[in-house]
Amino acid sequence: MHFPWKEEYEMGISVIDKQHKYFVSLINEIYDAILAGQTDKKLKEILSKLIDYAKEHFDTEEKYFDKFHYEGSDEHKAKHKELKKSVLDFQKRLKEDKVIVSFNLVNFLEDWLGEHLKDMDFKYKDCFKQNGL
Ligand SMILES: [Fe+2]
Ligand SMILES: [Fe+2]
Repeated sequence: MHFPWKEEYEMGISVIDKQHKYFVSLINEIYDAILAGQTDKKLKEILSKLIDYAKEHFDTEEKYFDKFHYEGSDEHKAKHKELKKSVLDFQKRLKEDKVIVSFNLVNFLEDWLGEHLKDMDFKYKDCFKQNGL
């Protein structure tokens, strides 16, 4: 596994931890697909799966932000929006050079997820827990 799940990512909120773990597994899936020299079609499929899943995960977090009147909501939603935009840009650029763009994307996603977890997601941890998650 290229990008291992780390204990420090664990927030103790099972619905969120489960989604983050799946997110990490999708990043690994893209990496493996590149290494295995998978076809463009396959790579695009996995990438769309990841984009759909990112959306689903962000929707979950944002649903709770609204429900719990989380104070950091706007800032956090803006970060999600940025990521969606970046990934869509990568998706467009895939046509240029599949392998280089894909590797860049995997590195970008790893950095982004690790940072986002630490800098943004952990901030809502107490709020979510206080509200019963
Ligand atoms: Fe998250
Ligand atoms: Fe988030």
